[in-house]
Amino acid sequence: MKHLIDPTDLTVQEIDEILDLALDIIDNKEKYSESCKGKKLATLFFEPSTRTRLSFEAAMMELGGNVLGFSSADSSSATKGESVGDTVKVVSCYADIIAMRHPKEGAPLLASMLADVPVINAGDGGHNHPTQTLTDLLTIRREKGRLNNFTIGLCGDLKFGRTVHSLIKALSRYSGIKFVLISPKELKVPEYIITEVFEKNNIEYEEVTTMEEVIDRLDIIYMTRVQKERFFNEAEYVRLKDSYILDMNKLKNAKKDLSILHPLPRVNEIATEVDADPRACYFRQALNGKYVRMALMLTLLGVNV
Ligand code: NCD
Repeated sequence: MKHLIDPTDLTVQEIDEILDLALDIIDNKEKYSESCKGKKLATLFFEPSTRTRLSFEAAMMELGGNVLGFSSADSSSATKGESVGDTVKVVSCYADIIAMRHPKEGAPLLASMLADVPVINAGDGGHNHPTQTLTDLLTIRREKGRLNNFTIGLCGDLKFGRTVHSLIKALSRYSGIKFVLISPKELKVPEYIITEVFEKNNIEYEEVTTMEEVIDRLDIIYMTRVQKERFFNEAEYVRLKDSYILDMNKLKNAKKDLSILHPLPRVNEIATEVDADPRACYFRQALNGKYVRMALMLTLLGVNV
């Protein structure tokens, strides 16, 4: 049995196969509509979510399966003091696969050690979010036609943004990727990303504090929200929250084929006027999230169609 906790739990080949399967699902939806008949997905969300939880649920429904679960810690036995370990052991009796989001880094890993069914990390604190990464990779592949040889700017909260950490880990295994890290100095990527990912693998990266100085060089810009819930200090959040706002004016100097990604939810990081620009990929990205989760669940459940 296989779990997905960290994006590097999957080899590059396995990721490419999941993306291929997602593309086949997009082209042949009917073929897959009964492929998880009789299977159940449990979504255990101890932290809020719109896209991730609903796209997992929609994905299982489109595969002909069923879903159960909870969408906040308040509505689970966590409020009675039950441990994550006991919760997953019990849910393993009711479901064939589990998607778990938790505010504590490492909770889904612990769950995977105790569960009798595959566990998917749907976001653990400020750490990882591997299914968002699969979504991002599918989006880049569909928009750019490739997963190598481009310059990607990652902008916003690179410290607490788990989507950024997982995306860097995954993309750094493809060739010819240059990373431009755009953040205030307070929200730079954690040191382990610099040493364990960039330096260890000899990957080209640069750290800057403004979007304007690099926008013309980027093939992709990945915008992120400042992660309010991970701040210890409200005043610090208020000071940093609007550090970057991408608008049509800033896009004047951007490449004509720039791809603008955002895992969503958006707060102020992208002006709504940008939504109508063909370079805005973020709503297409949200749709890709459903297809890639269909492909992931088929793979982890070992269903061959
Ligand atoms: C992200 C997350 O939960 O980390 N959202 C998502 O899953 N699409 C990004 C965010 O909350 O800012």
